[in-house]
Amino acid sequence: MSFEVNRIRKDFPLLDTQVAGKPLVYLDNAATTQKPAAVLDALDAYYRSYNANIHRGIHYLAEKATAAFEETRKAVRDFLHAGSTEEIIFTYGTTDGINLVANTYGRKFLQAGDEILISALEHHSNIVPWQLLCEEKGCVLKVIPIDDRGDLILEEFDRLLSEKTKLVSVVHVSNALGTINPVEYIIGKAHAAGAKVLIDGAQACSHIPVNVQELDADFYVLSAHKLFGPTGTGILYGKKELLLAMPPFRGGGEMIKEVTFEKTTYADLPYKFEAGTPNIADVIAFKAALDYLGTLDKEGLARHEHELLEYATAQLETIEGLRIIGKARKKISVVSFAIENIHPQDIGIILDQQGIAVRTGHHCTQPLMQCLGVPGTVRASFAPYNTREEIDALVAGLHKVKKFLS
Ligand code: ALA
Repeated sequence: MSFEVNRIRKDFPLLDTQVAGKPLVYLDNAATTQKPAAVLDALDAYYRSYNANIHRGIHYLAEKATAAFEETRKAVRDFLHAGSTEEIIFTYGTTDGINLVANTYGRKFLQAGDEILISALEHHSNIVPWQLLCEEKGCVLKVIPIDDRGDLILEEFDRLLSEKTKLVSVVHVSNALGTINPVEYIIGKAHAAGAKVLIDGAQACSHIPVNVQELDADFYVLSAHKLFGPTGTGILYGKKELLLAMPPFRGGGEMIKEVTFEKTTYADLPYKFEAGTPNIADVIAFKAALDYLGTLDKEGLARHEHELLEYATAQLETIEGLRIIGKARKKISVVSFAIENIHPQDIGIILDQQGIAVRTGHHCTQPLMQCLGVPGTVRASFAPYNTREEIDALVAGLHKVKKFLS
């Protein structure tokens, strides 16, 4: 196969694993990607040779760890094409980033009657924080609907947008269906209406290039673990003028300038939003993941993933009774499907017995499943290291499922 996929597979030690006596077929990359050896080595090197707390010590280890930590910030700035490292806040992940914005920007700037616009494609992490804010402040949550293919209905977006809309928060790419949203259009229209925009990029960043300045996103959030990096680490990008105007999220060490019992003044950006000892090792190893991604041929990668998507879609459609759920005009390499009269969980269990890992259920998008009128789906999601042979294994596995359960 093109794109040197066999060479890439060698960079990911876990892919050699056997499950149920069979070679692992890992098709759950939308839940989390596997990690290249470079990331594992970076974690090991930190703990073995320069483990120390950061931004606090003057000794050799502390300075080395601090420098490595800040190198990741620069790498993320470059990856997202942000204007400054002051705009790059380390979080615990996408969910944490959205909660940060809801609890700081939202609590300070939104009032009763203001409207927050999300979409029917949202993950729970881009629904619940806004519901909590609405309960507290009396704001109103509105939802952009989708059509049968799983595309946002943009006429409805235009209709819902008004001078009452203060914030639009939408996913760049749907984790459940793979739909790529027209975020440029959404951001342009929202800004024209006077609203700020948060883009949930968790599922987008490993598949499509992101330039936050070109997009003109006000906030952009992502998780390292969906980008071949470690879990428990993420990024909030925010425009500097907004971050400056926002109060801190968590109080504690490192986010202060001066503390007295009477009053505290806060640290400059980005540290104002980074209270406590952060996830040092994982942040450092995240740079190894970004560096690794940088070594891959971007066009080849996009072509390879698109071929996997087209091949999987065509092959799955040959299975009688199988229905693909989500056929958006623009998709990343995610295929959700259901098989007539077989529960998604049963499909997942039988595939697992054949060494095939997929995700089944509602994918943390219960309202989306309600819109689609299904209890859940089976989701196969592909990464650069997946192959056509693995898709053939999935299709063969599904024939076995049908034989056992139909
Ligand atoms: N949000 C992750 C998924 O889509 C966990 O599976």
